[in-house]
Amino acid sequence: MSAADASVKAVRWQDGELYLLDQTLLPDKIVVERQTSATQARESIRQLKVRGAPAIGIAGAYGLVLALRDKVHLDQEHFIKEMRQQADYLEAARPTGVNLRWALRRMVQRGLALTGADPQDIHAELLAEAMRIDAEDRRLCRSIGEAGKPLIKPGMGILTHCNAGWLATSEWGTATAPMYLAHRDGVDFRVYADETRPLLQGARLTAWELLQAGIDVTLICDNMAATMMAQGNIDLVITGADRVAANGDAANKIGTLGVAILARHFHIPFYVAIPYSTIDPDAASGEDIPIEERAPQEVTCWGNHRTAPEAVKVRNPAFDVTPNDLITGIITERGILRSPYNESLRLHYPAGATS
Ligand code: MRU
Repeated sequence: MSAADASVKAVRWQDGELYLLDQTLLPDKIVVERQTSATQARESIRQLKVRGAPAIGIAGAYGLVLALRDKVHLDQEHFIKEMRQQADYLEAARPTGVNLRWALRRMVQRGLALTGADPQDIHAELLAEAMRIDAEDRRLCRSIGEAGKPLIKPGMGILTHCNAGWLATSEWGTATAPMYLAHRDGVDFRVYADETRPLLQGARLTAWELLQAGIDVTLICDNMAATMMAQGNIDLVITGADRVAANGDAANKIGTLGVAILARHFHIPFYVAIPYSTIDPDAASGEDIPIEERAPQEVTCWGNHRTAPEAVKVRNPAFDVTPNDLITGIITERGILRSPYNESLRLHYPAGATS
């Protein structure tokens, strides 16, 4: 199974039903779960069955379609009210990845633009909008790949953190898109995947999907990145992001900040790869980005086995913020943006711009 294999996708809408690949079971089992309600879709997002900023945006958009499926008999006013409530309900599933908010607000805007129409027709248009979001993400990932591919030179070692691959998007991924395209072009390079404690997205997901694609991937524990860099194995870092503020500060999976600091120490370029849907113009800097704090059990247990004493205090922030001055460039579908990001982001993404 690879990025080019359309049969398994993180999020799939088929014959009027929403299907999610349960990523908590990977790489042991490939289980695709039909979602029958908005409650189930929200829970799947919360539990990380579907995860990665663009993928949860797409799942949220289809989730709203599910939520309103049995509400089309309502009068117009009540249907619109229900649409707003269900969008808020789904948006609350995860706070950091802005793509969820972005997708749901886009859906609501589309619905509101049809005020006066029959709820049945609004619902049909909401499904069409969700499909547009899904298809657009595929194009965005491909363009990110084209923009980032020239950074990958023969013989390079590339470090990535968490999973910003096809499992986290509609296809190709963000951080991995340049890798997939360079690999397709026959460029010979190696990837080092941080395992990404506590939920091991690097080990379970990134290592798995790159192996499927035939890319040379080596798994390391998070605390081995410094040694890999010191030994000269790493020439380039590319990660994804969950939300990029107007000044270029980037929130991504916990541990990314440490990687960026190490990269600066070892003079290794550090890039963040994102589609425009990950930019939050309302967040002036990283301080405005809400950071999800998850259950302590993710830290105190290894799978189902408890590894820490019962009484210990735990912190479990799921994301951290890399300040813009540690970021060499932001790879987007519109090319690689450089510092000062306040200016380059504003120039390439004036308010309301879409791709
Ligand atoms: O908690 P997760 O697994 O949803 O975190 C995912 C990440 O941090 C990814 O790097 C980010 O969403 C970018 S995905 C293209």
